[in-house]
Amino acid sequence: MSGVDGSIDWDAIRAAAAEATTHSYVPYSRLQVGAAALMHDGTIVSGCNVENASIGLTFCAEVTVIGRLYMAGYRRHQMVAVAATDQFGHRLTPCGRCRQLLMEQGGPDLLVDGSPEPRPMRELLPDWFGPEDLPA
Ligand code: THU
Repeated sequence: MSGVDGSIDWDAIRAAAAEATTHSYVPYSRLQVGAAALMHDGTIVSGCNVENASIGLTFCAEVTVIGRLYMAGYRRHQMVAVAATDQFGHRLTPCGRCRQLLMEQGGPDLLVDGSPEPRPMRELLPDWFGPEDLPA
């Protein structure tokens, strides 16, 4: 279960993401998305997408995960792995906005699920803009 020893239970993370799809609010796209993150202590935090009539204001499932992990007391760089799926069981890699959000919270070593294999965040978002690019 824990990512600390390097053995990540992707089945458990993917199952939590699948369960999260059942909570989605998707009257516009009809695409239920669930995401789940494995934290450094073995806890899994999940989230669903929440759409809005002002389409661009939609929360992706990964955004909900980030809000929920902060509410659970976790902080930056405590995420080890993340997975997302739709209601049909297709693995989804995060959209560009979510990659930016996940990179700042999870760091370049964050493992992101995909097809066929998980990849580290550094491969999904090279040359990223981050906190170090802002003035001190
Ligand atoms: N969506 C996510 O939740 N995560 C992603 O990484 C990609 C897209 C959601 C947003 C919207 O509710 C639906 O999928 C269709 O774009």
